[in-house]
Amino acid sequence: MSHVLVSGEVAELLANVRVPDDLTVRLLPPEEEVPRGEFAGILPVLTRRIGAAELDRLAGLRVVANMAVGYDNVDLDAARARGVRVTNTPDVLTDATAELTWALILAVTRRVAEGERLARSGDWTGWGPTQLLGKGLGGRTLGLIGAGRIGREVGRRAPAFGMELAYWSRTRRRDWEDETGAVWVAALPDLAARADVLSIHVASTAETRRLVDGPLMDRMKDGAVLVNTARGDVVDEPALIERLDAGRLWAGLDVYAGEPVIPERLRALDTVTLLPHLGSATGETRQAMFDLAWENLVRCVRGQEPVTPVA
Ligand code: GLV
Repeated sequence: MSHVLVSGEVAELLANVRVPDDLTVRLLPPEEEVPRGEFAGILPVLTRRIGAAELDRLAGLRVVANMAVGYDNVDLDAARARGVRVTNTPDVLTDATAELTWALILAVTRRVAEGERLARSGDWTGWGPTQLLGKGLGGRTLGLIGAGRIGREVGRRAPAFGMELAYWSRTRRRDWEDETGAVWVAALPDLAARADVLSIHVASTAETRRLVDGPLMDRMKDGAVLVNTARGDVVDEPALIERLDAGRLWAGLDVYAGEPVIPERLRALDTVTLLPHLGSATGETRQAMFDLAWENLVRCVRGQEPVTPVA
């Protein structure tokens, strides 16, 4: 019999899988309350940090099966050093996250959230020729920071809106360039200067933390739009707030540096559309993410190779 710990938040998704008879599932408690003992696997959600001290308490742990494509919540080096596998959930959330990115691009450029607030307020006085004017997308340039699975899928949708596509990425994607007409830009500041909409699709790592900082934002065009559906700490949030406040930039954000805290100054601004980390939030996607995380968990507990390992 093996024992595993699963985040309480996923109970509804867990109910849809068959738990093998030789496995018992317990809820993963908060970090400081994790019992010492023999747990073969843990399945956390992305808001649950998994650090070295906790890994030390869980003797015999074989896997951290993260239910997210990002795994910045897991101390990868500590897991590697202790021979614990780490897995993530790529692919199954790519379309959902790309769609949400476009939802934000459209919401920001067409001032959808402001319009919605006005319609709800009871203060709308009627159609006006210069009311809540936004910007069209046709002929404008979408710049992608990162061309991994999600970035490439966001890019595939750009021609449908008549947008030009440019990207900056460590790895050049020539097939995808051929498919979409995307232009690779060697230097990130040049991409920032070229884009009307700049969308972030890189993981949070030591190299990408605050990659989009004040000086990079200053390379962006006046009134350009920054979109972030990746991780909050890739952006220098205070620097962005300054530029939004000054009316220099607009933004659409799904992620924040100190989630779930969203700075009050940011919440007060109309030049930004804010979502509460909904990138992968469709019913079918969340179940597919859980199913993949569960499969990784069960395989590792049995000593088999996981489907989507990161370490
Ligand atoms: C969501 O943010 C994820 O990493 O899956």
